[in-house]
Amino acid sequence: MNNTQKVLKILSDSTNYLSGEKIANEVGISRTAVWKIVKNLQDLEYPIKSKMHSGYYYEDDNKLNEFIIKRNLVDNLKNVTFELHDSINSTNTRAKELSSIQTDSHPLIIISDQQTGGYGRYGRSFVSPSKTGIYMSILLKTQTEVLNPGLLTTATALAVARTIERNLEVTPQIKWVNDVLINQKKVVGILTEAVSDIESGSINQVIIGIGINYLSDLSIFPPEIQARIGTLQQYVDNAHLSRNFFIAELLNEFFELYSNYQSGDFIAEYKEKSYLIGKKVTVTQGMKEITGYVNDIDKKGRLVLHDGTILYSGEVTKVRLT
Ligand code: BTN
Repeated sequence: MNNTQKVLKILSDSTNYLSGEKIANEVGISRTAVWKIVKNLQDLEYPIKSKMHSGYYYEDDNKLNEFIIKRNLVDNLKNVTFELHDSINSTNTRAKELSSIQTDSHPLIIISDQQTGGYGRYGRSFVSPSKTGIYMSILLKTQTEVLNPGLLTTATALAVARTIERNLEVTPQIKWVNDVLINQKKVVGILTEAVSDIESGSINQVIIGIGINYLSDLSIFPPEIQARIGTLQQYVDNAHLSRNFFIAELLNEFFELYSNYQSGDFIAEYKEKSYLIGKKVTVTQGMKEITGYVNDIDKKGRLVLHDGTILYSGEVTKVRLT
């Protein structure tokens, strides 16, 4: 860690004002050096307040900050590593790059303030403006078990829905498999991509991309998608919840579900939040369209229609109400 990061960490970890002298002693630099570093951080829009005789105080706001995220993680997640960007083409693309060089087995989280080439399922673009959204990819690596991407996507949708419900006082619904809706508008998209091991052919790494319209102003989105999407903005404003805090809460929920997701035990709760159960849908599967009533989502995360048709998420390109 360089001195700037050390100062940022000390300030981010503190819940009250810290004197320049205290920070200087801790880092082993002069008070003037601390002052200069703080000035640079303020120029980069880090919300650090300076007060005569009191020192410096970091007041968490909308600026993404790895140290604040880590401070709010549960203890057993302290070994998770982060890579934060101001702007990147896509956090999922970055995760794919890192999957080939990443050697340790700890999860890696990539977050960007903005994406210039964000994408969703089937290569559709995912509009990712700066300062308002949450764009995050979780790279999971495992040597021991075979990952099940379809079921993991459903678990992720539930983790996001729980985080929204527990922190923002609004109850979302999940549209199988991976959309989280509020008032029938999509506020979250999830894209899970598998990385296979060339030698064994098994999936041993998985990338879970999560895009959230957190504080997004929908008027800047392309008109053709405006009717379908929503934003968490009003709920976030009421709850005064920073992106950093929400991200930490989401990771806490996600990793709790991940520890046992293969059992499918979470599906009961997923179904309670399902937007589709009991509704008539048309599902696009390759060139085929299947229409039927949704009876169930089973413990493997598959959609079960009233006539017994069972559909895996991976083979379905579109689900619409009919
Ligand atoms: C979908 O709705 O089809 C899925 C959208 C997934 C968007 C997220 S944003 C973070 C990550 N990076 C990407 O390019 N895509 C995912």
